[in-house]
Amino acid sequence: MSQPIILKTTVELIQWRKTIKDKSVGFVPTMGALHEGHVSLLKKSRSENDINVLSIFVNPTQFNQAQDLDKYPRTWDEDLKLATGAGTDAIFFPTFEQMYPDNYTYSVHENDFSLMLCGASRAGHFQGVLTIVLKLLNLVQPNRVYMGEKDHQQLQLIKKMVSALFLPTEIVGCPTIRNSSGLALSSRNSRLNEDERNRSSLIYKTITTAANTAEAKAVLENAGFKIDYLVDVENRRYVAAFVGDVRLIDNVEL
Ligand code: PAF
Repeated sequence: MSQPIILKTTVELIQWRKTIKDKSVGFVPTMGALHEGHVSLLKKSRSENDINVLSIFVNPTQFNQAQDLDKYPRTWDEDLKLATGAGTDAIFFPTFEQMYPDNYTYSVHENDFSLMLCGASRAGHFQGVLTIVLKLLNLVQPNRVYMGEKDHQQLQLIKKMVSALFLPTEIVGCPTIRNSSGLALSSRNSRLNEDERNRSSLIYKTITTAANTAEAKAVLENAGFKIDYLVDVENRRYVAAFVGDVRLIDNVEL
């Protein structure tokens, strides 16, 4: 497979986008530390579009804790290998200054679902997510965007933003990819030690098998997890739980 073109500035990206204006563009926005979940999104995008674009940008405005941002894994060499193997044509890899020439004085607010679940415990998180995704969509102008259902709340909010702001793109939700014991793949998993990783598979097992949220909470708390939230909303069970200082999220349809 040929190496993707690397675009580091918005000007480069806008110029390059003009050269492919008659082609269909699939887009996978990420914060890097790519894993098989991202690879599955890139492969789906590859198979459904003429051009396959990946963005890698660890977006500071969606982190409510400086420590979490500092510890976010950055694995450029490995990311490049995985992106190349998955048939990526271009990687957009901007800096903060490129993405926020306004220094975040403009942003997107959603006043309902974004305040629940992850939004309730991570103030400003979805404001940061929606703002960066809107900027990326305006720059990349994709026909289709591929996003994982592991971040189900994020996926719903982005779908609704696209509809509310009349953006000419389709958001394609893709199934969560799990390891053999059920743990949802996440860039944050690389911060777990072996014992924590083994124990974390209990999250998926518990939310799929417990009769109700009280039972699921009790099982996970007894196993040493600190629960941020574990709730059922509209036929879906959502959980965020700490394993040591790593916060993991998951969800299943009921
Ligand atoms: O899911 C992620 O990796 C991020 O929230 C996203 C959508 C790339 C925005 O920074």
